[in-house]
Amino acid sequence: MADPLVTVAHLLAPAFAEVAGRSTVGDTASVDPVVRPSDRADAQANGALALAKLIGRNPRDVAADVVEVAGPALAGIASIEVAGPGFVNVTFTDRFISEQVASAAADSHLGVVLATTHETVVIDYSAPNVAKEMHVGHLRTTVIGDSLVRLMEFLGHTVIKENHIGDWGTPFGMLIEHLIDLGADADSVIDNADPNAFYQAARAKFDADDNFKMRARDRVVKLQSGDAETLALWQQLVHTSTVYFNSVYRELGVLLTDDDLMGESAYHRLLPGVLERLVAAGLLQQSEGADVVFPPGYTNREGDPLPLIVQKGHGGFNYATSDLACVIDRVERLGATLILYCVGSTQAQHLEMVFAVARMAGWLHPPVRAVHVGNGSVLGPDRKMFKTRSGENVRLQELISEAVVRGVAKVAEKSPELPADERERTGRMIGIGAIKYADLSTDRMKDYVFDWDRMLAFEGNTAPYLMYARARILSIFAKITRDGIAAAPGAFALSEPAERALALELLRFGS
Ligand code: ARG
Repeated sequence: MADPLVTVAHLLAPAFAEVAGRSTVGDTASVDPVVRPSDRADAQANGALALAKLIGRNPRDVAADVVEVAGPALAGIASIEVAGPGFVNVTFTDRFISEQVASAAADSHLGVVLATTHETVVIDYSAPNVAKEMHVGHLRTTVIGDSLVRLMEFLGHTVIKENHIGDWGTPFGMLIEHLIDLGADADSVIDNADPNAFYQAARAKFDADDNFKMRARDRVVKLQSGDAETLALWQQLVHTSTVYFNSVYRELGVLLTDDDLMGESAYHRLLPGVLERLVAAGLLQQSEGADVVFPPGYTNREGDPLPLIVQKGHGGFNYATSDLACVIDRVERLGATLILYCVGSTQAQHLEMVFAVARMAGWLHPPVRAVHVGNGSVLGPDRKMFKTRSGENVRLQELISEAVVRGVAKVAEKSPELPADERERTGRMIGIGAIKYADLSTDRMKDYVFDWDRMLAFEGNTAPYLMYARARILSIFAKITRDGIAAAPGAFALSEPAERALALELLRFGS
């Protein structure tokens, strides 16, 4: 079942075309009925206003002609009439609406029409960094990306999830050396309750000890050249972190698994090729000893052209180079037609410049699109970046644990009679649902204030409210069959205006 607004647009399009075709003035090749929701009818077509302007007629007369042409042929329509300055108001029969709702309800796909243009969508999301904690910022990219995966799959697209973890680059020199100094397995020295401690200790040594710094630099070279012992230690670090990421994903009910890992290291071998192709395209320039590309239109604060750095002076590639390799791989190997980057808005310029260079080099071209799905930040009650009392990033794992504790407490308060294991199970769902839904229900691009009381409330636009409503609906359905009211829910009779309004809203689910 299509959206009623779309249904009206389809029904009226031929009438608009016919009225437009009668005119000899204006280019009437494409007339859009412009259908919108309305307070006075089920839908309102505003297209007569633009069409009237185009052909130099009175909008109400044009609307009247549309009604005359369309009127008699429409099934399921209770009334169609001219309103206001030249709107065409359309109201369905109750019967038509109830039939549409019944058919959507009986459809395993809830009446959602599959996308007509099939896409191969690569979704880049979550992307935490090895040997570092997942912080609250990763909650957003993880939860938003996971929702897009589900939506795109539901619409029938082919979806490829990619978790572009930070698992390569200069920091690994110091991390590996620190691991060697500790003389133990990564598993035993990296505490997943506080993975940052290991990173910070390595960093502190790097800053204070010149000898360590040199060892760290040599170690990067060994890593890059594929030294077996170095790779084994690096692999330990990656493994410890991915076990930790997976535990967070399982708790959040996120779809990502090890099969989706496509970190920076996965592109490492492709980087020299990226450089070669940029040279061949005549795009590579020298700037302050580095190999760079200048995409037009990007300038720094002083107004000088801003480069995308592909290779640093001492020969190292960087984040941008990996991202260029990523574009090539996604388009050429995976056959992506749409690439979604769920990455915080702070990286907007980086991604725009990567896309610009990829376009200049001919790697990203229509119909393939790369889109940055940005997001705002999570703020604390003081409306500054959400930090712990001691000023550190809020660890995602801690946030999840607290959500569960609070969810369980909430359930205990509402339903003390529930057995302990059920309180635990329901509380966990409520707590985790609350943080995910609080994130998803706010404007993606805006910052939002993290507020336990609001997100755990049983009233308002919250996960607990939605879960509660769903549970009640299911219990009504169970009662229908249990008490023999009907064999199954399915027949609809719309008698109240609120029911009718709800039915129309439900029919818009696909849109
Ligand atoms: N690892 C990065 C971070 O934590 C995010 C990577 C996003 N994806 C990308 N293709 N650049 O900031």
